[in-house]
Amino acid sequence: MATDAEGEGERMKLEEKPAKQGFLVHGPVTDGGTIMTPDRVALWWIFLDRIADSDWETLEAVISDEEHIRSERFHFDRDRQVYIAAHATCRGLLSYCLGGDPRSWRFSVEDHGKPELISPADGPRMRVNISHTRGLAAVALTVDHDIGVDVEWLQRNAETDKLAKRVFAARECRTLAAVPQARKLETFLSFWTLKEAYVKAIGKGLSQPLDAFSFDLDTLRIDFEDRLADDPAKWHFERYAPGPEHLMALAINHPEPARLTIDAMAAPLDYLHGVGV
Ligand SMILES: CC(C)(COP(=O)(O)OP(=O)(O)OC[C@H]1O[C@@H](n2cnc3c(N)ncnc32)[C@H](O)[C@@H]1OP(=O)(O)O)[C@@H](O)C(=O)NCCC(=O)NCCS
Repeated sequence: MATDAEGEGERMKLEEKPAKQGFLVHGPVTDGGTIMTPDRVALWWIFLDRIADSDWETLEAVISDEEHIRSERFHFDRDRQVYIAAHATCRGLLSYCLGGDPRSWRFSVEDHGKPELISPADGPRMRVNISHTRGLAAVALTVDHDIGVDVEWLQRNAETDKLAKRVFAARECRTLAAVPQARKLETFLSFWTLKEAYVKAIGKGLSQPLDAFSFDLDTLRIDFEDRLADDPAKWHFERYAPGPEHLMALAINHPEPARLTIDAMAAPLDYLHGVGV
């Protein structure tokens, strides 16, 4: 694997290898089975600056005609590219875990815009969620259970205290107000990614008021303003810093979160290259 140190900032080619650990090492699936179960979560992320110019053709070959049309609507190349990377990675992850042609996956769209995979009739009900931000895309996959992922770029300008007062719960605002200025953005985005991952998991998106629930950043426990609204014991959250400029959070609803195995890693680009040709 070429690193920045070796390549002096040169763009990395499609050659990253999967981590040799966890259940994902048993993929890619080729025999019609699946490596996914309701107790497993697969999370892949992809950095735009790891994708070489020559690799875009491969990624574009994997997405659907409809995704192509949507990708053309973005004004900035960076937005179009991260959209393509996200959807190619999503299709790649599905095929890695379930077998089949990545171009064959079809999605329906729920009331608040959440895409749901139309799972094969004879297979498990796969649940998938996508997030993209400046320079990074991520995809989370499981079986049956509600799942949400959110990635954010750490460099973005945000008037954190002001915005938090408008949208966060009171105890989150207090936590944010107490942290030193140097850690404000990171703390704000830690809350933000967790909150977005949750509203994406339940499928409501930003139609769900963000101050109706709150997080403790040490325990990653969620609490609800209205105790009947949801059950904190059925939610599991993770936080990741996939690189120095990004934060990521994962939300999963599970009857027994202690049984979950989560495999999280950079998308194996050599595999995506292979399925796109
Ligand atoms: C979902 C939402 C929170 C996304 O936030 P974001 O930080 O801007 O975007 P992210 O990159 O994290 O996620 C975007 C992806 O989430 C998925 N998504 C869209 N709506 C979703 C929802 N309600 N729940 C979960 N996931 C959703 C899509 O795959 C989308 O990517 P795509 O457009 O490339 O397919 C926000 O856009 C929202 O609230 N949308 C709802 C709007 C709504 O209520 N529409 C109703 C009429 S359709």
